[in-house]
Amino acid sequence: MWRRPVNPSRRLGDSGGGGLLANSKSRSSPILSVGLIVLGALLFIAYSYGNSGASGNNMEAISRVEGDYSCTAEVQRAIPILKKAYGDSMHKILHVGPDTCSVVSKLLKEEETEAWGVEPYDIEDADTNCKALVRKGVVRVADIKFPLPYRPKSFSLVIVSDALDYLSPRYLNKTLPDLARVSADGLAIFTGYPGHQRARVSDVSKFGRAAKLRSSSWWIRYFIQTNLEENETAVKKFEQAATKRSYVPSCQIFHLKSFH
Ligand SMILES: *[C@@H]1O[C@H](CO)[C@@H](O)[C@H](O)[C@H]1NC(C)=O
Ligand SMILES: *[C@@H]1O[C@H](CO)[C@@H](O)[C@H](O)[C@H]1NC(C)=O
Repeated sequence: MWRRPVNPSRRLGDSGGGGLLANSKSRSSPILSVGLIVLGALLFIAYSYGNSGASGNNMEAISRVEGDYSCTAEVQRAIPILKKAYGDSMHKILHVGPDTCSVVSKLLKEEETEAWGVEPYDIEDADTNCKALVRKGVVRVADIKFPLPYRPKSFSLVIVSDALDYLSPRYLNKTLPDLARVSADGLAIFTGYPGHQRARVSDVSKFGRAAKLRSSSWWIRYFIQTNLEENETAVKKFEQAATKRSYVPSCQIFHLKSFH
C-alpha cells in the first residue's frame, strides 16, 4: 500500500470521538469503580515514569544505530540551541515536516511559546494526542507543494525538517520562498547529510519516493540562485550556543532570512 501526499481538500479529524463517555454504564458497582480508579492511577504513574529521565535519549540512540534517525527528532534535540540563536523570536513557531506533532507537543511545553505544525503526509496511524492537535487546528495536514494557508509573517520562526528532501527543485522553487513568506524573523532548515541516512524501504512507502539528500554546497548554491539569504547573525549565535553545550547535530542546519 502506497501513501501519497494528502489532497489539500481532504479534512482529517472530522470523525466524532465523543462516543466513549456516553457508553460508560452508570449502574456499575462502587467496588468496580474504585478498582478502575486505582488501575487508572497505576497506569498514569507507569506512563509518567516511562516518559521521564533517560528514555528519550535511549530511543534516540537506538534509532541512530538502525540508520533511522530523522531530522524531525533532531529539531527536538536542538530546541535549547535554537532558543539561544533566536531569543525572543522563539515565541510563535511553525514547524513543517513529518511527525510534526512530536515537535509541536514539545514546543508547547516551553514557556511563552506558541506552536503550530504542518504535516505534509497522511497521519492515519497518528496517536490520539496528535489527532487532538489536528482537531484543534494546531496541526494541519497539507501538501506543501501548494501555498501554505497562512498570511505573510504569520510566525516569528518557521522550522522545516525532513520535508524538503522529498521535493524536486521545481517544487522547492515554490515551497522554500513560501516558507520564508510566512515567517517574520527567520527560517531554520533541517536536512539530512547525503550518505548518512541510507534510502529506506519505509521511506518509499511513506512518502511515495525516496529522499534525495543534497550536499551543503548544493543547498548554498540553491539558496543563492533563488535569492534566499543566509542569516549570518542566526548562524553565528547558533554555532556559539552549540559549541558551548557540545551539541553536534546529526543533520545539516541552515538559517535563512525571512522576506522583508
Ligand atoms: C528554480 O528557480 C531558479 C531561480 O529562479 C531557476 O534558475 C531554476 O531554473 C528553477 N528550477 C526549476 C526546476 O524550475
Ligand atoms: C536573523 O536572525 C536573528 C536571530 O538570530 C533574528 O532576530 C532576525 O530577525 C533574523 N533576520 C531576518 C532578516 O530574518
